[in-house]
Amino acid sequence: MHDLSRRRLLAGALGTLGAATLGACAPGTERVPVGSAAVRRAEAARRHPGQRVVAARLRPRPVTLDLGGPVVDTWAYGDSAPGPLLRARAGDLLRVRVDNDLPVSTSVHWHGIALRNDMDGVPGVTQAPIEAGDRFTYEFTAPDPGTYFYHPHSGVQLDRGLFGVLLVDDPDEAGGYDVEWTVVLDDWVDGTGRTPDDVLRALAGPTAGGGSMPGHDMGGMRGAGGMDHGGMRMGEAMTSPLLGGAGDVDHPHHLLNGRIPAAPRTFTARPGRRARIRIVNAGSDTAFRVALGGHRLTVTHSDGFPVVPAVTDALLVGMGERFDVEVTLGDGAFPLVAVPEGKSGQALAVVRTGAGRAPVAGVRPAELDRVTRLGNDLAAADGVRLPQRRVDRSHDVVLGGSMMPYRWTINGKSFPDSEPLAVEQGERVRLRFANASMMFHPMHVHGHTFALSRGGARKDTVIVRPMERVVVELDAGNPGQWMTHCHNIYHAETGMMVNLSYRT
Ligand code: C2O
Ligand code: CU
Repeated sequence: MHDLSRRRLLAGALGTLGAATLGACAPGTERVPVGSAAVRRAEAARRHPGQRVVAARLRPRPVTLDLGGPVVDTWAYGDSAPGPLLRARAGDLLRVRVDNDLPVSTSVHWHGIALRNDMDGVPGVTQAPIEAGDRFTYEFTAPDPGTYFYHPHSGVQLDRGLFGVLLVDDPDEAGGYDVEWTVVLDDWVDGTGRTPDDVLRALAGPTAGGGSMPGHDMGGMRGAGGMDHGGMRMGEAMTSPLLGGAGDVDHPHHLLNGRIPAAPRTFTARPGRRARIRIVNAGSDTAFRVALGGHRLTVTHSDGFPVVPAVTDALLVGMGERFDVEVTLGDGAFPLVAVPEGKSGQALAVVRTGAGRAPVAGVRPAELDRVTRLGNDLAAADGVRLPQRRVDRSHDVVLGGSMMPYRWTINGKSFPDSEPLAVEQGERVRLRFANASMMFHPMHVHGHTFALSRGGARKDTVIVRPMERVVVELDAGNPGQWMTHCHNIYHAETGMMVNLSYRT
């Protein structure tokens, strides 16, 4: 605060030159603490008398899962992955008790929810880690309807079986569909001979993750050219015309609602019915191209918020993104396919409305090769456009990194050394994501839903392709300290993360 006034004085002393150089006045220097009065006030404004309480319990624990053939030892919420479906109405209070039965500490992050900062689930930033054997109760209002998900914000635990869907219903929504299905996509490695922590160590070397032994010899896994890390295919091999570098990890399985394509889930309905399909990409290193054989998809929501309905053959879903699509069902048995972009294999479910043979595991509907949309192509529905106003503050967010050594940066620095993006309460903030690397990055901002400057679609996670610039704006109305990062969990964990930091 004192620093702020000093800077303002300085600007004044320098006259117009100083003002032009500084642009908007410099933000304050004191962080708004995660449990501050400002955070409590923001939560109080979301509460209302007679608020409904939705209570739930999550029990992260070691478990053995059958993926539809392969049996894996992993960690999950309860006894399945995805974990329990949590469902509330907009404005409800969620009270979720987490009993940590894992052998390590954990946390739960409520991806996409504009919640109170001290319930955001980022250990070391918004709370202490939930130690092994301990418990923690998350309690927050979920203000906005939509399709969300939850997952740990601890190391690479997301790439275990630790994820689940949180649906927030809109009490005023017209509906207009007959059936509703939730589809969770995931890339799977855990329990197939290596854990996500092994993968991280192989990528980043012995210093990664903080948990490996100093001096442990991983020399043999750092092959020249970065192509061979202990038998894993690496980055350069996985490219897509749409995304460029498409991933760093060759996950052996791709799952739809926890199943490999040889043992798919089946969704049933009557022909002619209108289905709403909520698609969540819970993968760690994989974007999925989704299509329903014999149908076109109408995209109605992106990251929970309505968009101008957009018809497409296929939809590209980055890690952390969610889309709701609607489709009028034909008569028969149809493949709902999710192809890992730039990688081999696929995930599959069967949509059955009538007689006919179930599609085979390797089926490739023609829709996959027709029009494919990204979230970046969508426009905001009228009711959710950010109002026009002057931008108070702009930040460049330059995404960089290298494979050898494996290290990812924002504005040239790896978290926690990255320079926080300072904002003040009430500001209109512009973030200019600029990808200076050869891989795509799905960039996620906690606690806010930004607007794409092109099209205005409201999102919390947006794909930034190699050498691409994506500009977004948000209103700084949710005080606290908010992680902003790539939702490739291996990129985030090796540095591609920064703090969107409210200051006074
Ligand atoms: Cu799902 Cu910090 O993110
Ligand atoms: Cu990334």
